[in-house]
Amino acid sequence: MTPPDKPRLRFFESAPAQRHITGADHYIYAQAEPRHRVNVIGTGTIGHEHMRVATMLGRVAINGIYDEQAHSMDVAADTFATYSDSELKRFDSLEAAVNDPAADALMICTPNFTHIDVLEVAAKSGKPIFLEKPMATTVADAKRIVEIASDYPSFIQVGLQYRYKAPYAEARHEALERGTVGDIKTLAMSEYRPPFLDKVKQWNKFAECSGGTLVEKCCHYFDLLTLFAGGRPTRVYASGGQAVNFVDFEYEGKPCDIDDHAFVIIDYDNGVRANFTLNMFCPHFYEELVVCGDKGRLVASERFDFQRDDSARSHVSIEMGENGASREIEVGYTKPIEQSGHNGSTFHEHIEFADQLDGKASDAATPLQGLWSIVIAAAAQDSVASGQPVEMNTFVEQHGLDGIL
Ligand SMILES: NC(=O)c1ccc[n+]([C@@H]2O[C@H](COP(=O)([O-])OP(=O)(O)OC[C@H]3O[C@@H](n4cnc5c(N)ncnc54)[C@H](O)[C@@H]3O)[C@@H](O)[C@H]2O)c1
Repeated sequence: MTPPDKPRLRFFESAPAQRHITGADHYIYAQAEPRHRVNVIGTGTIGHEHMRVATMLGRVAINGIYDEQAHSMDVAADTFATYSDSELKRFDSLEAAVNDPAADALMICTPNFTHIDVLEVAAKSGKPIFLEKPMATTVADAKRIVEIASDYPSFIQVGLQYRYKAPYAEARHEALERGTVGDIKTLAMSEYRPPFLDKVKQWNKFAECSGGTLVEKCCHYFDLLTLFAGGRPTRVYASGGQAVNFVDFEYEGKPCDIDDHAFVIIDYDNGVRANFTLNMFCPHFYEELVVCGDKGRLVASERFDFQRDDSARSHVSIEMGENGASREIEVGYTKPIEQSGHNGSTFHEHIEFADQLDGKASDAATPLQGLWSIVIAAAAQDSVASGQPVEMNTFVEQHGLDGIL
């Protein structure tokens, strides 16, 4: 029998020349029975990804789904049937989905503005919860989620999975565990990408529903910067706006009001200075993190030209000058894992989720880290609006976050 968490040879098991190997002869292809069952709330783009990735990992079975749009559930069920022959329950209310005794965990994958209300209902079940990022659209709702989590009988994991992208996982290992570049002094992160995709009822075109671009998308990068900085943000200054995307877009008579570019500067209390650049009117995806310490420089990058390449190309380059060995590393996960979603980071997020369900230690994002990512983003959005820097002590006090942050 195969041990439950043993890595599998996913390339071979799905190869055409291996299809004649029946389950009875599976050993290195064998999949242990999942030990947990999850109900997925919200079966849109990311709900699909979680269903597929959970099934691929095989440690948590998809037990059932609930979505307020029947069409989303139809598509999710049809897609699920292409890669799984397990039964999939469909629930007709949120309450029925979260209180189903057959599910021992829940995944909340609904739009940002619904997270707080869905979580309030889900939390009554006391079950372990995975909650997509950003946790909430406002600092007040994010604070409420931290309060719910503080005396929750189980865990709440937040979907900030970019920390598991191969270049950043490797950068964390080099810069934070091995201390390769010495004491970190500056961080520069950037994301260049195409515009936001279409969504159900176009919720991501409106700051009221998404929290604003820096909250909705860039919470991932503020989470990463804070992990690398290892300090507390003291000051945030930002400039940004809507230059190209959706300038003529209207939905039910309402014009789109989301930014498509921004520059953000964050000072941390340990002297680390960070900046973040966003541009959302580019032909393909390019992300970069530059970490400079007193011994060297590290550059972690991911390029994904979805129109030409079938996988992302990720590198970590370490430049040590006279202080040590410099090197250039190509990093990545196996192709099926990278292609399962967000270049393999979602797969690794699911390993953390399954580990937490099994009672193991995990470095998955917590509600407190989710709150920090929103607080930095919200402060940056305030700075864009006012043209002034935001002092974080004042911001924390104004939002009643003393004692929490
Ligand atoms: N971690 C990541 O990298 C990542 C990537 C994409 C999306 N997300 C997050 O996932 C969430 C969903 O995004 P998406 O891209 O899948 O959006 P989507 O519009 O594609 O799907 C959302 C689904 O939720 C359903 N829904 C809306 N309100 C609901 C409610 N109250 N109860 C049940 N179902 C409801 C919609 O009908 C839709 O099917 C958002 O919070 C988004 O920010 C995270």
